[in-house]
Amino acid sequence: MAKGFFISKAVGIGGIFVGVAALSIIIALSVVYSQEKSKNNNNQVSPTDGGGGTTTTSSTKPTTTPPNNPWNKYRLPQTLVPIEYNVTLWPRLKPDPATGLYIFTGESSVLFECVEDTDLIIIHSNKLNYSGSMSDGGFAHLSAVSGHSVPSVNEGFLFFETQFLVLKLNGNLLKGQLYILSLNFTGELADDLGGFYRSEYTEGGTKKVMATTQMQPTDARKSFPCFDEPALKSYFNIILIHDVGTVALSNGRELESKNVVIDGQNVLRTVFERTEKMSTYLLAFIVSDYGNIGNNIGGVDIRIFARKPAITAGQGDYALNITGPILKFFEEYYNSTYPLPKSDQIAIPDFNAGAMENWGLITYRETALLYDEEFSSNSNKQRIATIIAHELAHMWFGNLVTLRWWNDLWLNEGFASYVEYLGADEAEPEWNVKDLIVLSDVHRVFAVDALTSSHPLSSKEEDIQKPAQISELFDAISYSKGASVLRMLSDFLTEPVFTKGLQSYLKEFAFSNTVYTDLWKHLQMAVEATTTELPDTVNNIMNTWVLQMGFPVVTIDTTSGAVSQKHFLLDPDSEVTTPSPYNYEWIVPIKWMKTKIIQTPKWLTQKSDTVNEMKVTTTSDWVLVNLDVVGYYRVNYDEGNWDRLLSALSARHEDIPTINRAQLVDDAFNLARAKIIPTVRALQTTLYLKNERHYMPWQSALNNLDFFFLMFDRSEVYGHMQDYLRNQVTPLFEHYKTVTDNWTKVPTGHMDQYNQVNAISLACRTGLKACQDLVQGWFKMWMDSGNNPIHPNLRYTVYCNAIAAGGAAEWNFAWEQFQNASIATEADKLRAALACTTEPWLLNRYLEYTLNSSLIRKQDATSTIVYIAQNVIGQSLAWDFVRARWNYIFTQYGGGSFSFSNLVNGVTERFSTEFELQQLKQFKEDNADVGFGSGTLAVDQSIERTQANMKWIAENKENVLNWFIEAVKTPT
Ligand SMILES: *[C@@H]1O[C@H](CO)[C@@H](O)[C@H](O)[C@H]1NC(C)=O
Ligand SMILES: *[C@@H]1O[C@H](CO)[C@@H](O)[C@H](O)[C@H]1NC(C)=O
Ligand SMILES: *[C@@H]1O[C@H](CO)[C@@H](O)[C@H](O)[C@H]1NC(C)=O
Ligand SMILES: [Zn+2]
Repeated sequence: MAKGFFISKAVGIGGIFVGVAALSIIIALSVVYSQEKSKNNNNQVSPTDGGGGTTTTSSTKPTTTPPNNPWNKYRLPQTLVPIEYNVTLWPRLKPDPATGLYIFTGESSVLFECVEDTDLIIIHSNKLNYSGSMSDGGFAHLSAVSGHSVPSVNEGFLFFETQFLVLKLNGNLLKGQLYILSLNFTGELADDLGGFYRSEYTEGGTKKVMATTQMQPTDARKSFPCFDEPALKSYFNIILIHDVGTVALSNGRELESKNVVIDGQNVLRTVFERTEKMSTYLLAFIVSDYGNIGNNIGGVDIRIFARKPAITAGQGDYALNITGPILKFFEEYYNSTYPLPKSDQIAIPDFNAGAMENWGLITYRETALLYDEEFSSNSNKQRIATIIAHELAHMWFGNLVTLRWWNDLWLNEGFASYVEYLGADEAEPEWNVKDLIVLSDVHRVFAVDALTSSHPLSSKEEDIQKPAQISELFDAISYSKGASVLRMLSDFLTEPVFTKGLQSYLKEFAFSNTVYTDLWKHLQMAVEATTTELPDTVNNIMNTWVLQMGFPVVTIDTTSGAVSQKHFLLDPDSEVTTPSPYNYEWIVPIKWMKTKIIQTPKWLTQKSDTVNEMKVTTTSDWVLVNLDVVGYYRVNYDEGNWDRLLSALSARHEDIPTINRAQLVDDAFNLARAKIIPTVRALQTTLYLKNERHYMPWQSALNNLDFFFLMFDRSEVYGHMQDYLRNQVTPLFEHYKTVTDNWTKVPTGHMDQYNQVNAISLACRTGLKACQDLVQGWFKMWMDSGNNPIHPNLRYTVYCNAIAAGGAAEWNFAWEQFQNASIATEADKLRAALACTTEPWLLNRYLEYTLNSSLIRKQDATSTIVYIAQNVIGQSLAWDFVRARWNYIFTQYGGGSFSFSNLVNGVTERFSTEFELQQLKQFKEDNADVGFGSGTLAVDQSIERTQANMKWIAENKENVLNWFIEAVKTPT
């Protein structure tokens, strides 16, 4: 899967009140993929098919069953191995007249081998109802393939906790024999974004309904009974029954689509080509009336599906243009031809994650696939390119070769999150998109991995059992830390060695399963075939990064050449209670330079060491460590070297590579948070920004200053901070005014376009009059003429600032535009900008809208509330709203679409007073009976963060205030 809701650059950069990028950090760092429903609804039987004439019965075992029964365990017993499934599904896109529910019916049969004698069949089944009598086994049909005798089914029951259907037989299935189990079932086609579900949208004033799926990680069992574990790969023959006039899609190619009459209804029956041997979580079934465009690249049929008007408007063209080249790129990178005859990609209006790599039929959020020149920013475009690359990368890494169990999820997701940059770079070589991994993944995950509540990349198989535990693994550590350490590995092995090992790994394990050490083995073989020298084996080096949480801060003392490492903790007073097999020491690759000259790389293999070349004797030489931030660690220096680096920045900042300028800022601010260096030292790294025109250092500074905004935007520090930042950003604003010919042109470079957004958003946010006039003028032109003159790159920022400066007229205009937006990308920008108003009544009304899914889609509810909380005025309103509605939100509005941890973190992020701390504790107490679901940890983290914020303000407010006052006085 690709990350869930993602705050694009255009949205994440902030406006007057919306935090610069903290929003993107909180949201991306939390478990945005969580499949809450499995936690909350374990014990619900789904509504039954009331209209189909079938009798539906189910029985449950009393919960007093001794817990040592095989069905009490979450893992399947290793007795039966599936070989092939035949599955026919019929989703009804109109509600059942009797019950008002949307349902689907299905028939499935599975051919399996018995590998150990057993008198039980245990197969996954969640929220499915079976036709016929369960208590006497009449609902199931069991046969033996070779005609030998087969025991009969005595009894069947559903065991809800572990999501099993259990069949008790009157004799044993025999080792080595093949059997077929057939079942008929019904399920609800709910709007719950999991398993087989429905998505709704309006087109030309008409409501449309489509059926689609999201199986990963554990919801295939919600669409048909199956052995739902990734290692139980099988072949699938899929048939979909659907209305005339609709299109059915699945993993395989459509072989035939015929008119048939079933139950007196004239329908289409579409048969799909048998899949390759694959895992259940990669299946997909979709019925819609979508349109498509396509081409054929090297024998692979590539198609993009979307709502018909979106296809007609050309919104699928960009995705189609880049898919072929990216696919070709990965074929070469993996040295393996694309394993399937077709590659479909489809945009779904309601979708919880960002995208899902179903083999041959990839599903996306609309914003992650559809591009429109007129509406999409360059950030939207980058997101499309990287997500497509991410999903296509999985076609091999993840789909062809699959990790055996979810505990190794980090390797699957970390890998795709790393190579998505390589794939996107192939499609858009001008962008330098590979550099951006430093901001989007490395720096971003440093923030969570520096907490004692972090966890190692690798989990033990036995610790990951329940669906909720599996869902929790889809976090920033798996994705972004995974990507960061694999990038480091590829770098120190060199790309040719890395890809060689990767290629032989894919070759050996095609169509089967692995554990992460299998990849290390193949990389080690590749290393041994070359002269590459490493201080230890790939396995031993990587274990220090994979088996312990966190990362080191490497300290260079240039007075002596001493180099040492220490576990970096954002809160120096926090206590690490998790023991580490390596005592929080890492094997650290060190790439470095000395005063503009790149030096021979080193390794730090112990706690401390001396590198004589790092000793500096002159007053001008400086040492810079971790070039391009390829290593997953922070760097600190002795005072003298910091001084010399800062002088270099202010004298000729180009002497320091761009990525490392971003690094110096980010490291300094975080070392200050950890009390390793003074806060004013961190602030000093922003002085040179007056002369900086590059995006990455500015973005790095804004990410860090956002914390200052949150802590001080309600205090007297705020005015002085505004004065300082306005001074710093004015030259950048003027620069863009010049290069864009008075705002009439678009800057050429991709990152220049990003930094133009930074220039405008920070200038307006800090009250630069010229900026405010500019954006309000544009917005007024739009309101007056009905024609939007604002470039898509700038839209969010302009909307946000204009709405903040305006009143009800501006807000209502934008709301109307939001409701009428024909592309999700534009709707998202408006939705975020609507939260920028300073009118409390408008914010309160907007909060009410978030829980009405006809106004705000369920998938967007959490992020909208968080947007409002980011606004300094909306903050307390959102907090009151969430507190007052917690019970409702939790019980009524729960499920996969609602991520409680995002919500809790989002609404409490600014908390920094004793009063707020008390409120938070009260909230925890008041709702103890309702619970917090996936937000449980977030509530405790919020309490901890509030206390840390209070401490930080007490220690820093005076200094920071004085520093800003002095910095404005002193001309630099
Ligand atoms: C699936 O259907 C095919 C064609 O009808 C049949 O040959 C095969 O035995 C079936 N397999 C299973 C598992 O039912
Ligand atoms: C499932 O339903 C079909 C008719 O649609 C019937 O032929 C078949 O026997 C049923 N299978 C079971 C296991 O009940
Ligand atoms: C797709 O490619 C065609 C042909 O190269 C080009 O004309 C068109 O502008 C491209 N569309 C987009 C949205 O990139
Ligand atoms: Zn993924």
